[in-house]
Amino acid sequence: MTTSIFYQTPWLYEGLMRVLYLGGYKARSEALAALIPERSSVVDLCCGPATLYFKHLRFKQVSYTGLDINRAFVERLSWFGSERVRNLQPDGTTVTGMVWDATADAPLPKGDYVIMQASLYHFLPDPYPIVDRMLAAAEKYVILTEPVRNLTDSKNPLIAGLSRKLTNPGTGDQPNRFNEKRFKEFLARYRDKGRVVESYPIAAGREQLCVLRAKL
Ligand SMILES: C[S@@+](CC[C@H](N)C(=O)[O-])C[C@H]1O[C@@H](n2cnc3c(N)ncnc32)[C@H](O)[C@@H]1O
Repeated sequence: MTTSIFYQTPWLYEGLMRVLYLGGYKARSEALAALIPERSSVVDLCCGPATLYFKHLRFKQVSYTGLDINRAFVERLSWFGSERVRNLQPDGTTVTGMVWDATADAPLPKGDYVIMQASLYHFLPDPYPIVDRMLAAAEKYVILTEPVRNLTDSKNPLIAGLSRKLTNPGTGDQPNRFNEKRFKEFLARYRDKGRVVESYPIAAGREQLCVLRAKL
């Protein structure tokens, strides 16, 4: 199960995202960062290259923990390339990177906000256990943003097939994706439980953002 080159090389990943989002790449992390108050703590599950932290949250005195299965991403958050380093910043906040397989049943680190960007599709066909674990770890809110328009839906079998391979995090090809209907159906369970605070499209409709309350 070969990890995609894009998941091993942060600059390549960010370059690809910029191309795919056609200028909407910054907007998607801006939309999420705008919801995080200054001096909060954030746990970012499947953090990738931690663009959210480096481009936005570090300017808001946010203590940040990035978790990802791919070491190349997490290493960016630590000084010495260590697997697990808790760096104290000059403003008193901390930044932590951990290699973490979110499919393992370990409790997630706690934070005011537990977030996941563009990664819930990795947990299909059953995304509920991971979201429930995020809710258990959040003191205030869980925020998810998820692509609902995808290259895997392309009518061109070459593009669709390539897209499945390029998102292999090391655990196998990733054939499943959300679309608007599937995301709405996923959210219905949390809506029924009174957890959904808001949900709306971002990045020119490519992604859907939703905020879930952690405490009822
Ligand atoms: C599409 S990228 C999104 C990265 C980042 N959140 C962003 O929005 O730019 C998906 C991320 O999920 C990570 N990932 C996939 N499966 C995982 C797992 N089981 N545990 C932890 N991270 C995982 C990948 O390594 C990759 O960084």
